[in-house]
Amino acid sequence: MTKKLWEKWLPAFNVKPAINQVEFNPYFQQTELRAALTATQTALEAWAPLGSGNSAMLNEPVLKQIAEKYGKNVGQVILRFEHQEGVIVIPKSVHEARIKFNREIFDFCLTSAEMDAIRTLDTGAGQYDPDAPGVEAMLRSAFDVHAND
Ligand SMILES: NC(=O)c1ccc[n+]([C@@H]2O[C@H](COP(=O)([O-])OP(=O)(O)OC[C@H]3O[C@@H](n4cnc5c(N)ncnc54)[C@H](OP(=O)(O)O)[C@@H]3O)[C@@H](O)[C@H]2O)c1
Repeated sequence: MTKKLWEKWLPAFNVKPAINQVEFNPYFQQTELRAALTATQTALEAWAPLGSGNSAMLNEPVLKQIAEKYGKNVGQVILRFEHQEGVIVIPKSVHEARIKFNREIFDFCLTSAEMDAIRTLDTGAGQYDPDAPGVEAMLRSAFDVHAND
């Protein structure tokens, strides 16, 4: 749920959602939505935490520089950044080696300056716009969460 949908539908829930899964990665850091979720202590779970394998993101100089410092790969730096931001991260890979690498993010810690450097990569927009006309209606027709509204 985008911030717009979150604020529209939150009053309708008898039980507040524990998690909101939305696109989140260094290119789209959801700053406004995350501020709204804090009020209800709702966790953000990253959809496309690696930007669906976005090659520009995986080759960002700042990420490569940090990866080199820690002897990690860029994917691991991205996942560590997200973890330190308090976001729930479930990356996807069909490759065993990458699945293993993607779990090895708990033996290093990014500094405040490194976190700030990665925060500057935020473009404020994602691959998709769930606020686009028709998307809310499509989603509501696919789930029965609000069937009694
Ligand atoms: N809520 C649900 O029911 C549900 C269901 C399904 C999926 N999802 C979520 O949907 C999202 C979409 O998936 P996504 O594939 O766009 O997400 P993603 O995790 O951002 O990206 C996965 C892509 O990155 C590549 N990759 C994985 N690890 C990498 C690494 N260390 N370095 C470089 N590239 C790496 C993968 O390629 P390889 O596979 O070739 O390694 C794959 O192409 C995921 O967050 C998933 O959890 C949610």
